[in-house]
Amino acid sequence: MTTDQVESARRPLPRWRADLRLGTRIAVMRAGGLALALRGDPVARLMHRPWRLDPYPTYAALRASADGGLARSRTGIHAVVTHEACTAVLRDRRFGVRLADGRMPFDPTDDASTSSAPDPTAADTALLEPIDLSLLSLDPPDHTRLRRLAQPTFAPRRLAQYRDTAREVTDRLLDDAADRAARGTFDLTTDLAAPLPISVIAELLAIPDVDAPRFARWGRALGAALDGVRSVRHAHALSRATADLRALFGDLVERRRAEPGEDVISQLVHELDEGTLTLDELVSLAQLLLVAGFETTTNLIGNAVRALHATGTWDDLVADPGLAAGAVEETLRFDPPVQLTARFAHSDVEIAGRRLRRDSGVLVLLASAGRDPAAHADPDRFDPRREQSTPHLAFSGGAHYCLGAALARMEGEVALEMLAQRMPRLRPAGRIVPRVATVLRGPVHFPVRAG
Ligand code: HEM
Repeated sequence: MTTDQVESARRPLPRWRADLRLGTRIAVMRAGGLALALRGDPVARLMHRPWRLDPYPTYAALRASADGGLARSRTGIHAVVTHEACTAVLRDRRFGVRLADGRMPFDPTDDASTSSAPDPTAADTALLEPIDLSLLSLDPPDHTRLRRLAQPTFAPRRLAQYRDTAREVTDRLLDDAADRAARGTFDLTTDLAAPLPISVIAELLAIPDVDAPRFARWGRALGAALDGVRSVRHAHALSRATADLRALFGDLVERRRAEPGEDVISQLVHELDEGTLTLDELVSLAQLLLVAGFETTTNLIGNAVRALHATGTWDDLVADPGLAAGAVEETLRFDPPVQLTARFAHSDVEIAGRRLRRDSGVLVLLASAGRDPAAHADPDRFDPRREQSTPHLAFSGGAHYCLGAALARMEGEVALEMLAQRMPRLRPAGRIVPRVATVLRGPVHFPVRAG
């Protein structure tokens, strides 16, 4: 290669060519997955319509065919599908969220790093870079160090303060929703289930002047990325959301440094100055708290109201709003906001009598575990009064057990209790629009009537 050729190969592709290349890659991958789904591969079916809209029959098929709880798939990724096998993998320290050598799984920039040639796809791989999900994409020792720093934010004494905020915010949102309902319908997701957790998280992070619709947009782009980038448009939305969030938190760090408060960012800025974490780690952790904290809780509220209505148990909640905690717990088992997660073997391992090679990926189907008849009696029945003798896995398990579990439960409980008290005649009033996703499950739009 001449110097000129090397120079031109090094130059990033023009935007339109990068977009075209990225679009083609995504289309090829989706077509491959769809072909497997059409041929009956259940793991591939989880990623595609129409099966994705109601994944529970696919989970049942997977449990029926799995050997010792492990289902094989021609996608190359296996899945653990029973409560016992999911729990075992989540607690097994031979599995991590990265590959054995610390690389990120599915990192599209890997090709470049393994080749000494200049990377002509630099522009599109930048769009596809795996999102840094802080704790969720870290293994020990970094995971242990950062988790310890984030933990005080979720101390029980703080929960009482967040509960007051949740009640005040819910009251205000329901006032506005009631005004809208008086003229017809309102949207349970955009008028209550999304803005409530955004306000609580904003208080937790002490973010001033929250622009809820903008936060919801960022959350949707990042949440959808848990499934991988699904289109060129999504890739651009994701880049914009990440850049906006980085700018927001970069600015917040400076403000807290000048004027520290009691909030989590102030504490983390202190750790930053002590050298316990880096600025990038701080910004990613704040971003994770923001996103993990609202997309999920939004889905919890939507899935709960949908299940209560579909099963005729809404009236039970109205008669006894104290049932809200049970309804939240049952929703987490029956139709959880986070359906699955993934782990990677850090050595050759044997699970369920099968040998998996180092770096093998395993999907952990949290939602399938919730419907496993070996763990829960009559698992397809939604019963807010159920005695949960076996804990569900909606908040995962092992080292990555959800840090915000108590907060999410509290928000769900406040939302359901106040809804039942203030709008006892609430009922669905049109088509529920589901989220286009495999990992996160919940309604994006949920039209309801209040009287
Ligand atoms: C119903 C609501 C929620 C659900 C279903 C949920 C679910 C989960 C799940 C399944 C994981 C672990 C994923 C894995 O094992 O790979 C997780 C981790 C996490 N969640 Fe939640 N979550 C919820 C709400 C929240 C809230 C409100 C916050 C905080 C404000 C939060 C913060 C976190 C954090 C920081 C982690 C990472 C923990 C770690 O990797 O060590 N979550 N969540």
